[in-house]
Parts: sequence; structure tokens; C-alpha cells
Amino acid sequence: MTMPAQPFSDEEVARIRADFPILARTVRDGKPLVYLDSGATSHKPTVVLDAERRFYEQHNSAVHRGAHQLSEEGTDAYESARATIAAFIGARADEVVFTKNATEALNLVAYAFSNATHGGGGGMPGRHEHGRGSARFVLGPGDEILVTEMEHHANLVPWQELSRRTGAALRWVPVTSDGRLDLTDIDTLLTDRTKVVAFTHVSNVLGTVNPVEELTAKAHERGALVVLDACQSVPHLTLDVADLGVDFLAFSGHKMLGPLGIGVLWGRPELLDEMPVFLTGGSMIETVTMEGSTYAPVPQKFEAGVPMAAQAIGLAAAVDYLEALGMDRVTAHEQQLSEHLLKGLAQRPWVRVVGPDDSAERGSAVAFVVDGVHPHDVGQVLDHDGVAVRVGHHCAWPLHRALKVPATTRATFAAYNTLAEVDVLLAALDKVPGIFALEPAGGSAP
Ligand SMILES: Cc1ncc(COP(=O)(O)O)c(C=O)c1O
Repeated sequence: MTMPAQPFSDEEVARIRADFPILARTVRDGKPLVYLDSGATSHKPTVVLDAERRFYEQHNSAVHRGAHQLSEEGTDAYESARATIAAFIGARADEVVFTKNATEALNLVAYAFSNATHGGGGGMPGRHEHGRGSARFVLGPGDEILVTEMEHHANLVPWQELSRRTGAALRWVPVTSDGRLDLTDIDTLLTDRTKVVAFTHVSNVLGTVNPVEELTAKAHERGALVVLDACQSVPHLTLDVADLGVDFLAFSGHKMLGPLGIGVLWGRPELLDEMPVFLTGGSMIETVTMEGSTYAPVPQKFEAGVPMAAQAIGLAAAVDYLEALGMDRVTAHEQQLSEHLLKGLAQRPWVRVVGPDDSAERGSAVAFVVDGVHPHDVGQVLDHDGVAVRVGHHCAWPLHRALKVPATTRATFAAYNTLAEVDVLLAALDKVPGIFALEPAGGSAP
């Protein structure tokens, strides 16, 4: 019998924290930094900073260009990073495309549909055929794109634009008042006209973990392709693309202890092969004449221009670091932190948490409102005590409208956070009712 993974002990978290130089700094007149905004972007351990630095100091070159030793070393390191990152999600290296961030990865897929529809992105006939026969990417009036009301704008706006460009209708799964997908009408929303279903694995606001396998199976029954936004799951959960069963998956490196400026698109190889290209230019071609060009095989055909080698190498170092910590333990640790916060917030009747109240159904994001106080004011009070959280609509404006709140305050966690930091957040939060002279609402404000 295997024991459930344990959260990190205080000594272990202290050791982890020592790997992150930024956590040693103070803010707001000497207060320790309590960083609870890793869902926006995480901090980077020394091994990641060193990996990037080593690339620039030892191997700096335009990878996949040039026959000199530096370029050869840089290319090897870049491709080996691809293999490490692919293995982390249970994929093969040639199924992983590097992009600037998840937003670009999602746009890459959306543009494949409109390019297939309008005859672009295929290049001239060549050894590698692109976009020809890719009927499953062609969209038009009468077709439908299905998203959900809890999407980050990065997984909503590209589909709105695709709908506008092709005439396909955009439909969405609503959310329930407790922040789950309302699947009551899923069999009406998902029809034979649905060509693509794009949704988030874990909500960046509610923390809700969506039923990926169930939704994917239903989408596939209807012949639709499934695009999963895994920005808030890959950094926090053990995940395998084969188990999820989706067709595409996108995430950002900077939310998983990796550098800014690198994202990942994973796709099923036969689909990546069929897909028209998005960005064009150097490095993605096979042959070029004045009349036209043919394109390189996957993944190069999607990586136009000099690639972000240092960032890919840094992200591979982050993956190695997370694997050494053990993803099961990272999940258990973050779950313990969010449970502690949820429990603390439940003791404060003047605070309302959005999203599922059962922490077992949640990722590590906890968003809440203090009725009568704008989240920007809450954020300012917390910031005064050194607590960094995110306030606003977290790039999920339609979700906030559905929840009937203009904005929320959100805490998100990483392996380096402690229970004591959650207590600092709660103590700082207790100053809010006094500062804003709130009437005790059904309970005592401190
Ligand atoms: C669920 C989700 N999707 C997409 C994104 C977009 O990520 P990026 O801005 O790195 O492209 C984010 C970032 O906050 C997110 O939380």
C-alpha cells in the first residue's frame, strides 16, 4: 500500500526557501516578503538562474543556426531541454513546441484553424505537407467553438477572434454559483457542429479542478478537438497528457519556477503535423525561393526566428527541481496551505470565498471578497504588511460577472510558502474591517 504524499516539513520548506534568493528580501520598510502570488508568476530558484547564466556564459549562440561549436552546444542544450519538459508531461520531445507563453500557444492553435479555413499557413507543396487535407481545422458559419465562462482571457479572446474571423459561433458552458462548470446542458451545448472545445484544467480564480477526462470524452464523441489550458495545473499536479486524453495542452514556464518568456504547446503529433503554421520566417523553413517556401517538420515549423534557448534551458532546470522535490509532495504541500487559508477565512464571517468549499476539489488558488471593501483596498492593507496577493478580475472578467462581484483578492501558493505566511495574511486581513469601519455582518469583525 502506498502512503499518501506528505506536505513538506518546516525544515524542508526552510531548505526550499533558501534556494530562492528573492525570498530573502524585505519590502515596505523592512517587512519580510510574504509572496502569495505565484499563480500570477512564481519565483525562480538559483538552479534556474544558474542554468540561464551558464547558457549565456558558455554556450551563447543562435541555436539551430551556425556550424560552430557554440551553436552546436547551444542546440544540444535546447533540444535536451525540450526532452526534459516533454517527459514531465508524459510526452515525446517532438510533440512539444516552444512559444513565448501560454497565451501565444493558445493563439497558435486558434490561428491554425483560421489559416486552414482561409488557405494560409501551408506553404508551397514540399516534402512536409502542412495544412493540406486538414479539414478538421476548417471552420465556417454553422460550426461552433465551445469554451467556458471561467476561462482566463488567454483562453477566451483568441476563440472570440477565431469566431469573428470564420463565422463559427462561440458558445460557452456557464458556471454555477459555487464556481463549478454547470454541465446540466452539456449535451445541448456540445453537438456535431462543435469543432473545438477549449477549457481550463484548473481555474486561476476559483481553484476549481475541472473534469477533463469526462468533458474530453464527450467532445471526442462529437468529433471535436480539445484544447486544455494547463497553466494552473502543470506547476502544481502530476499530469500525463495520455491520461488526460486531450488534443492540445498549453502552459507557461514562469508559473512553474521557470523563466519568463517561455511557454509550451503540446499537441498530438498527427494534428501538429497537419496544422498550418502560425508565425513564419527564419528557422521554420525547409526551402525558400522567391516564389514561395516549404516548411520544416514539427516542432521547428512552429518556432520561427531565433528561439528562446536560455529560457528553455532554465525551464528544464525548473522541471528537474520540481521533480527532485516530488510533484506529489508539492501538491500535498500546496493543498495543506490552501486548506489552512480556507479554514482561517471560514472563521471570518465578513469574508466570502468564491469557488468550491471542498478543498479536495480545488487547486491552490483561493479568491475571496470582503463585502463592502474593494479588493484593491484589501490588497493595499495586505501589501502594507508585506503580503503580496493579486487583486482585480485576474484576467477572468466574464467569470467575475457571473459571480456577481467586480473583483476578488486572490492568494496562490508554491512549494516555498509556509503555514506561518498564511497566518500573516490572515492577521493583516483582520485589520481591514477596522480600517474601513465595517459593520459586523452576521459575525464579529475584529
Ligand atoms: C488559467 C490561465 N490561463 C492562461 C494564462 C496566461 O498565461 P500567460 O500570461 O503566461 O500567457 C494564465 C496566467 O495567468 C492563467 O492563469
